[in-house]
Amino acid sequence: MPRTLTENFVEQFRLCKVIPGETIGVIAELGQKQSYVEAAVAAARQLGASALVLHASSLSSPMLPPYEADGREVAALLAAAGECDFVVDVTVGGLIHSDVRTRITGNGKRMLFIAEPNDVLERLMGGPELRTVVENGGKKLKAGSLLHVTNDAGTDLTADISGEDLPITHQWGYVDEPGRWDHWPSGFVACFPRDRTAEGQIVLQPGDALIPWQRYVRETVTLSVEKGYVTAVQGQGADAHLLRDYFDSWEDPEVWALSHMGWGLLPRARWSAFDVYDPRSLYGQELRSTAGNFMWSTGSNRFADRETPAHLDVPMRNCTVEIDGVPVVTGGKLAGE
Ligand SMILES: [Fe+2]
Repeated sequence: MPRTLTENFVEQFRLCKVIPGETIGVIAELGQKQSYVEAAVAAARQLGASALVLHASSLSSPMLPPYEADGREVAALLAAAGECDFVVDVTVGGLIHSDVRTRITGNGKRMLFIAEPNDVLERLMGGPELRTVVENGGKKLKAGSLLHVTNDAGTDLTADISGEDLPITHQWGYVDEPGRWDHWPSGFVACFPRDRTAEGQIVLQPGDALIPWQRYVRETVTLSVEKGYVTAVQGQGADAHLLRDYFDSWEDPEVWALSHMGWGLLPRARWSAFDVYDPRSLYGQELRSTAGNFMWSTGSNRFADRETPAHLDVPMRNCTVEIDGVPVVTGGKLAGE
């Protein structure tokens, strides 16, 4: 039987090891996603924890420019969140790439972002098995030196992933240890390759996904990549034009930079989600998590001091992803399947 939002929050908070006596901070925007705020508070109380709701007025990221950073309430927010054991982010845009997130988790707090509709939260909830698969992917990235991605359409991209200190994002959808951030639901692993090392070209094909545009690519687009930046966007159809227009509109050379790269690991996540649901009701976690996708991204990269609201995540089908010549994804399927 499908569960209510509150029942799913209770289940998720158990995965996040919420225990009696803890204090849970809920960061939200005034008047937005009220049912999520209420579910978080109810779940906290059911588990014997208490909850503090922090309503901020200027946290959502804009989808298009102009953009002016505000963040006047950040100091107060951090002071309050710093007193909580577990911080739940139900803002519309999410504090994903922001300094706020880094400072909360850097302080040893668990932090969880929640945005998807209730049945997506339920259907894609993580667990220990997924966690193991994601961690194994992270180990391969950490041990590797060169990431190489190809597909039959002409994609041929390399990036330097060498070094013990390579930043890796493990997302299995819950936060069960201090200092950890995650987004419920998730099922992928990604790294931030050495800045300015990506080289080659990416060829997008119909059916690949553009997030947060929340739709599929319709016509082939070829992106040239030099020294970690997209330098040309070519194609006959509207998609090449729209991508160029989007990048241009920010009037910021940094939005052309490549950011994280990795692959999806959740077999329950379906490629069809943007057509099955109202796509604007989704945050895109299902497409990010489809098993065997290759996902790359643009713009924001907190490990390269690049903070911009312009950030596309692009899961691609049918790619082969190799680390030092050993495939982790072959033709869009997880290696070993
Ligand atoms: Fe991203």
